[in-house]
Amino acid sequence: MRGTILRTERLLLRPFEKDDVEEALKYRNDMEFARFLPHIPQPFTRADAERFVTTNMEEPWEKYPTFAIELDGQLVGTVNLEVDANNKIAMLGYAISRDQWGQGITPEAARAVIAWGFQTFDLAKIWASTDARHQRSRRVMEKLGMQHEGTLRAHHLDRAGLRMDEVMYGLLREEWEATANPPPDGSN
Ligand SMILES: CC(C)(COP(=O)(O)OP(=O)(O)OC[C@H]1O[C@@H](n2cnc3c(N)ncnc32)[C@H](O)[C@@H]1OP(=O)(O)O)[C@@H](O)C(=O)NCCC(=O)NCCS
Repeated sequence: MRGTILRTERLLLRPFEKDDVEEALKYRNDMEFARFLPHIPQPFTRADAERFVTTNMEEPWEKYPTFAIELDGQLVGTVNLEVDANNKIAMLGYAISRDQWGQGITPEAARAVIAWGFQTFDLAKIWASTDARHQRSRRVMEKLGMQHEGTLRAHHLDRAGLRMDEVMYGLLREEWEATANPPPDGSN
């Protein structure tokens, strides 16, 4: 399973490789990119990039699959799952280079990983969350067919150390099946 490769109309989704350090450094060293991701250090140094790539290569794929998103041969971001095998659910994460925002790349990549995740791990649900102010990310979750399930009040600290609300979104397996796999005769 480690070597999983997925293809979409525009993208190649593949495991990380040693050679990814340079391009990871380029797009992750960006305060605007990391605005709603306080765990990503800024400035993002070469050592941070090396650690990031090594972690993605070494973490157990069956629990933390992290796909590098490649567009025209260039690393532009990640889509990842954190699989909770006991509960048959997984958390979805995504992040792409600021150069590529607004072209539907994240939904395209995430759709492929969601389909792979439901099928590979026999999941009942995939969920995601973000800072309540992060409209772009909320829009991605909506476009993926996820439902806003609730808001955790004052749930995390942002980059400025301010306490912020976290919005929770979820996609049940039957909802995904209804949209991703319509029956061949179109009756549904
Ligand atoms: C959030 C993020 C993943 C969105 O990815 P994307 O590939 O740009 O997604 P989309 O192209 O579908 O755009 C999503 C929405 O963002 C908005 N948007 C797009 N480009 C924008 C821009 N340049 N400035 C402001 N808003 C923009 C649009 O409202 C769009 O929705 P629409 O298609 O209905 O108009 C991306 O901005 C990102 O990686 N940000 C940094 C990392 C991050 O915050 N990850 C999410 C953590 S929860």
